[in-house]
Amino acid sequence: MPLTVGLTFDLKQDYPQEMSSAADDDCELDSPETIDAIASALEKNGHKVFKLGGGRNLPQTFEIVKPDIVFNISEGLYGRNRESQVPAILEMYQIPYTGSDPLTLSICLDKSMAKKIISYSNIPTPAFKKVEEVDDIYGLDELDFEFPLFIKPCYEGSSKGIRLDSKIKNISALKEKTLQLLGTYRQPVLIEEYLPGPEFTIGVLGNKKPEIVGIMEVRSLNNQNKELIYSYEVKKDWENQVQYLCPPPISPKLESEIKKIAINSYRALECRDVARIDIRLDKHGTPNFLEVNPLPGLMPGYSDLYIMAKAVGINYNVLVNKILSYAIERYPHLRINNCRSLFV
Ligand SMILES: Nc1ncnc2c1ncn2[C@@H]1O[C@H](COP(=O)(O)OP(=O)(O)OP(=O)(O)O)[C@@H](O)[C@H]1O
Ligand SMILES: [Mg+2]
Repeated sequence: MPLTVGLTFDLKQDYPQEMSSAADDDCELDSPETIDAIASALEKNGHKVFKLGGGRNLPQTFEIVKPDIVFNISEGLYGRNRESQVPAILEMYQIPYTGSDPLTLSICLDKSMAKKIISYSNIPTPAFKKVEEVDDIYGLDELDFEFPLFIKPCYEGSSKGIRLDSKIKNISALKEKTLQLLGTYRQPVLIEEYLPGPEFTIGVLGNKKPEIVGIMEVRSLNNQNKELIYSYEVKKDWENQVQYLCPPPISPKLESEIKKIAINSYRALECRDVARIDIRLDKHGTPNFLEVNPLPGLMPGYSDLYIMAKAVGINYNVLVNKILSYAIERYPHLRINNCRSLFV
């Protein structure tokens, strides 16, 4: 039986201008084309879709009508809990939804919190320090990590606040960049050991037995031996700057180590339905957890998850409906209704 599916999202064009403090402020938000593509994929599978928009619109809507389930890609507004806002509203109204719950979304958005859980789970991740405020920069002289280091805002995505000079070679550059990030992004800064090895992103789907969609290596395009910093500048000009290798030319041993870290990280952070995990090799060639994106981009044609799915013969419509199906599995009353759902 077809379901009524609400689609929750935040568009770049709706981003409140008064919130803008940096040039890359709205880069995590979605475009109308992505929303239309998700809606069309769900409709082609027989569902009736309502585009509900962002969190502020929802309580009023849900007082009048509730969809059977919500397909959530809302990024939310303000702070490290922003991605949790819509799922928290959905839980308040007891409406089923796709993806991770508010706790996981908040923890994953705060890279230092995620890394604490990852370290506790014995998954390799670079040593790190969180700098909360300007006064903390005096403590940076005491850091016992070796340079080079890497510096980034604690609660961002889409390489917001990450530039080619985020790789830091000495203490004066570290202090200068820390002050700059604290001032511009108004949130703590994460300083971590720099990982010099190749970079991979891994798509994961599912719950009890999560499945790897694919592993994709991201490499510098012009100079294959150049270390990649997948910064805001590079992501903006990706067509000229990077190549995506999916599957990557790696040994079966490395492939299985990367998959193990991806699945263990997904489980440790209690991700649901879908996520994309970024992994990079350290100087010994050991894969390390960098961060996880439990709301990975779903732009058709371009997003990492789209590329990985396509490489294994999963088209966009199937990908979107697979995410919905994994969510439906959680809700017995929907499972019965949806048992004849066909992937298009
Ligand atoms: N410790 C590190 N060592 C080396 N490079 C790093 C490190 N941390 C981040 N980077 C580089 O910066 C890029 C962006 O970092 P990260 O993935 O943490 O940011 P993000 O904004 O959350 O990205 P996404 O677009 O995946 O949401 C990485 O893909 C990697 O190239
Ligand atoms: Mg990343």
